[in-house]
Amino acid sequence: MDFNEYVDRREYPTLKWSKSFLREHFGNANAIPMSVADMDLKAPAAVIKQLQKRTSHGIYGYEYRPSSYFEALAAWYQDRYGWKIEREHIEPSPSILSAIAILINQHSDEGDGVILQSPFFFEFRMVINSNHRRVVKNPLKLRDGHYQIDFKDLEDKASEPGNKVLILCSPHNPVGRVWTTAELEQVAEICRRYDVFVIADEIHGDFVFRPHRFAPYLSVVDGKNCAACISPAKTFNISGMVGALTIIPDEGHRQRFHEFAHRYQINKVNVFASAATEAAYKEGGEWLDALSEYIQGNVDFIKKHLAQNDIGVSLTEPEGTFLAWLDFRGLGLDVKSLEKFLALDAQIALAPGYWFGREGAGFARMTIGCPRETINRALDSLTLAANKLR
Ligand SMILES: Cc1ncc(COP(=O)(O)O)c(C=O)c1O
Repeated sequence: MDFNEYVDRREYPTLKWSKSFLREHFGNANAIPMSVADMDLKAPAAVIKQLQKRTSHGIYGYEYRPSSYFEALAAWYQDRYGWKIEREHIEPSPSILSAIAILINQHSDEGDGVILQSPFFFEFRMVINSNHRRVVKNPLKLRDGHYQIDFKDLEDKASEPGNKVLILCSPHNPVGRVWTTAELEQVAEICRRYDVFVIADEIHGDFVFRPHRFAPYLSVVDGKNCAACISPAKTFNISGMVGALTIIPDEGHRQRFHEFAHRYQINKVNVFASAATEAAYKEGGEWLDALSEYIQGNVDFIKKHLAQNDIGVSLTEPEGTFLAWLDFRGLGLDVKSLEKFLALDAQIALAPGYWFGREGAGFARMTIGCPRETINRALDSLTLAANKLR
């Protein structure tokens, strides 16, 4: 569990480290890759060991999820969050976004609105638009560096009859808010009143910093008009091994989801995903606790670095996730100049704020699930470039 270990990803670059991705989106194949939300850290040893064992068996036939897989999943959520997941409420899907696409199709018609708290994870927009629905923004309010849900605006948006679904990103990507039980209850109350279906995307739920606590949506509200999407992908850094789970307590909704997944045959499981997931939920707890602390340390490191160098950049303090939402408005650059400045002058590939909607302008998202030294290099490079602006 040495999170300071630098792992050279160039041999298997995946999306984040691929030269073509960096060139296409940042115009700089050598920028430090910090835009994609996967970590430059090895998965837990138990996961690696299990995958090695599974690989060396040599036979990779059709997989099914054994009951031990579901037991490991249920125990994880029960022990950590006191949430009891009923086995029959679980529907598998290849990924969180494929589950969201199915749910949007089921709970809205073409042309309907899907509400998002902006700035929002940009792939939500892609799923909404490619399914011929509309993005309806419920912009978060930023007060003294803290984001909050605008409940009055949420009620206005929810009360419009064409707005049928809310995707609640919990914890929130990119701003790092961890919604309190009271906030979740208020969201649920408004959506219940106007019959808006809530999709709680909880992929970042396992990364929450003290004293904040992650409350799974379905552990707080009654489960009639909602579903929760969970996945081990971010938690254990196994996002290349696709596989997500959707929890749908309402039987009718669940049956329709099941039929859809069956119709398009998107309910199969990959042998490696199943081996990795079970091992992770059974044996990855200690690793995750240590990693969460390390990431909190990265947050503190960023704060200290920015305070010491005073370059007009600040951090929106995250309550969870392994993402840092940095405020560059103090540099006085317009959206396009900021994008160029970061990629070409500072030589760091951050996800530019405008990808997350207009409300993200002037910000950028840095993935901080990496050795501290990578963050140090990125911030030093940023500081050097920012000082040249003066
Ligand atoms: C909030 C959120 N949802 C979903 C995803 C993607 O999940 P999947 O690859 O399982 O579709 C991400 C990945 O960054 C994410 O941040």
